[in-house]
Amino acid sequence: MLTPENFKSDIVIKSPGRINLIGEHIDYNGGHVLPAAMDKKITLSFRKNNSNTCEILSSNFKSSFKVELNNLVRSDVEWQNFILGVLFHINVLKPNSIKGFDCIIESNLPLGSGISSSAALECGIAKGVNELFNIGLTDREIIKLSRDAEHTFVGTKCGIMDQFAVVKGKKDHLILLNCETLDYELIKADFSPYVVVLLNSNVSHSLASSEYNVRRDECDTALAAIKKKYPDYQFLTEIPSKVVKEFKKVLPEKIYNRALYVSQENKRTLDAVKCLKKKDLKGFGDCLYRSHHGLQHLYEVSCKELDFLVEQTKDLDYVLGSRMMGGGFGGCTINIVHKDKVEELIENVSAAYEEKYHIQLSSIITTLSDGVKRI
Ligand code: GLA
Repeated sequence: MLTPENFKSDIVIKSPGRINLIGEHIDYNGGHVLPAAMDKKITLSFRKNNSNTCEILSSNFKSSFKVELNNLVRSDVEWQNFILGVLFHINVLKPNSIKGFDCIIESNLPLGSGISSSAALECGIAKGVNELFNIGLTDREIIKLSRDAEHTFVGTKCGIMDQFAVVKGKKDHLILLNCETLDYELIKADFSPYVVVLLNSNVSHSLASSEYNVRRDECDTALAAIKKKYPDYQFLTEIPSKVVKEFKKVLPEKIYNRALYVSQENKRTLDAVKCLKKKDLKGFGDCLYRSHHGLQHLYEVSCKELDFLVEQTKDLDYVLGSRMMGGGFGGCTINIVHKDKVEELIENVSAAYEEKYHIQLSSIITTLSDGVKRI
């Protein structure tokens, strides 16, 4: 088995997790999202091994595996599939470009917390292999093949937001991304005197577990029904909520609620960006609370622990906004908190959370960082 001691790497890659300020469950509906790369990262060390075999060690799992490059197939071990999928899709795009290598992965990103340790891993592997063997993949190719790896090898039909943020992140900037065209605008994130704090419910989710894919199907069902009357709409995010409301009596309640959430959340994301550009931080924070409300009641991807964490902040004038972040069903809330009150918030919410759920809260104070890169 590989050991970190005496491992002489040819290259080292740092690959960040991502946060998302607003625009949740919007990427696969063709709308706008507002993510950023974060300062917590995975480190991947690579060396060539002049063979046809790759050996990969996860220091966190204290486990490794070997794979022959002519036999890239799915594994029964979930974390291996993020890597195998990326290698498989690079091979499809650039056949025979990958040679044997060893890789050691060390992560600072808690798993299942909604900060996309999965995209960090996928894009970190893709970037590393690209650099190690001079394959010439573009950023867009890395983003798309990493997303494809998650679809085909992991089984989550995720959108493109996470991989995009991990690759294109820029220090101190948010990315306003059009998930359909992949056009994007970097927006200077000036929240001062407020900072971004993640509160981790430590309730673990698994996106691969069916609910994520169920939401995608429900959105497809809603769009297909609305298109019968309005065939020109291509995406739910294009449909004004006024039009969605015409279908209240026609669609099953659940399907209607999903469509309404998507339409409102896309608009809310654009409104939030307007607030940010005007330095209306209070207005920006309100958009976050309204986003959570929709995720909780209409899209139904929250859980009682996340709702509790958001609720705890509502009467605090030093918190501008709070909502669940990422796929949902656990993981973190994202909070915009006055810098002088961060400790007070963490202390108070931790105590209340522990008393109610007997679970220890953890927190991450994060800054916005550059995307995946060689160091
Ligand atoms: C996960 C997926 C993303 C996105 C979010 C929800 O992180 O990987 O593509 O859909 O959930 O916004």
